[in-house]
Amino acid sequence: MARPFNYGKLANEDYFTNRDRESKWLETQINAGINCMLISPRRWGKSSLILHTAKRMRRKNKQLVFCFIDLYNIRSEQEFLQLYSSAIIKATSSSFEEAVKNVKSFFKQIIPSVSLNPDPASEIELSFNWKELQKNMSEVLNLPNKIAHQKKIQLVVCVDEFQNISFMEDGIAFQKKMRAHWQAHQHISYVLYGSRRHLMMEFFTKSSMPFYKFGEILFLEKIAEEHWVPFIVKRFKETGKTISGALAAQIAKLMENHPYFVQQLAQAVWQHTSKKTIADDLTQAIEELLDQYTILYQKEADMLTNYQLNFLKALCHKETSFTSTAVLNNYNLGTSTNISRIKTALQNHEIIDVLGRQVSFNDPMFEIWLKKRYFKME
Ligand SMILES: Nc1ncnc2c1ncn2[C@@H]1O[C@H](COP(=O)(O)OP(=O)(O)O)[C@@H](O)[C@H]1O
Ligand SMILES: [Mg+2]
Repeated sequence: MARPFNYGKLANEDYFTNRDRESKWLETQINAGINCMLISPRRWGKSSLILHTAKRMRRKNKQLVFCFIDLYNIRSEQEFLQLYSSAIIKATSSSFEEAVKNVKSFFKQIIPSVSLNPDPASEIELSFNWKELQKNMSEVLNLPNKIAHQKKIQLVVCVDEFQNISFMEDGIAFQKKMRAHWQAHQHISYVLYGSRRHLMMEFFTKSSMPFYKFGEILFLEKIAEEHWVPFIVKRFKETGKTISGALAAQIAKLMENHPYFVQQLAQAVWQHTSKKTIADDLTQAIEELLDQYTILYQKEADMLTNYQLNFLKALCHKETSFTSTAVLNNYNLGTSTNISRIKTALQNHEIIDVLGRQVSFNDPMFEIWLKKRYFKME
């Protein structure tokens, strides 16, 4: 076995743990034809969960087809519609020849050009002329429903980083069009997920927004320590090494149960372990990761203003009443009105997460780096 832990790629099969409740929830919604919205910060496991659920559901029902669209680099309607139709054609065709045939039979008013993207060789790409596209947007938006109806399949359209829709020029007007079409799709379930909580929340819970109440919302949480411990212990065992439950728990604790970072630290500890993990392996693994991250984190720290750094220092010291006179003075944070500005900026940089009155670091490794190497607190 190459490596017992995995990060940076989607977690599936042996690398996947827990999420039974969330996966069942998704399955129930999808089977009932209800659209789902999934929200969590980056790297908490949305994409992995959806892939896992898709695989599980496909094993039970071969009529079910999942189509994956990732909007991470999409900035315009045209790009969106090209990606959307390419992904749908790809998901519903088993070869390039069939894809070409499907394009011919499903597009009547607008004829896309089809090309084979050389990397990887099987990817097909549809592109449209923008003028024509504007006149025939309905045909493109209705593509999944038409295909699902004619092929008698149930299509699940999964859109990752959905919040990027808001970066489009005239995003609201486009959202209105999408909603108006998607709403009428009988054969499709839409699963929309994203990592910018406030944007996603605005889409689905603000009554003036086009996607208001489009479906059910799930806030994905981190994976609890009680699930990490047996997972880590088992992965060590399967690769001929052992780790105690206590040390496994410490890995999860240090990384605050953050899925990506727990897997990363577990892998680093595993690499350090010769046969049986000792406490020192964990200490060294942490130091090594901090070394690796230093360039990146130093850059991140350089970007911040003094006030922002002071705020992070207060957060590292577990302060919670940021607007109290004592905290404002001790950490040199300016006036209390300054605090909300600092918070917003740090949130926009994706450094902190603010939930109600609770403020936390997005990246547990950055927090450790700040404490140990920047503020030299320990
Ligand atoms: N269910 C899970 N079990 C174990 N590790 C997971 C799980 N979900 C996510 N991870 C870890 O977190 C990382 C990021 O997951 P990903 O699905 O890409 O998150 P997101 O889509 O929310 O950004 C994965 O590479 C993996 O290391
Ligand atoms: Mg993702």
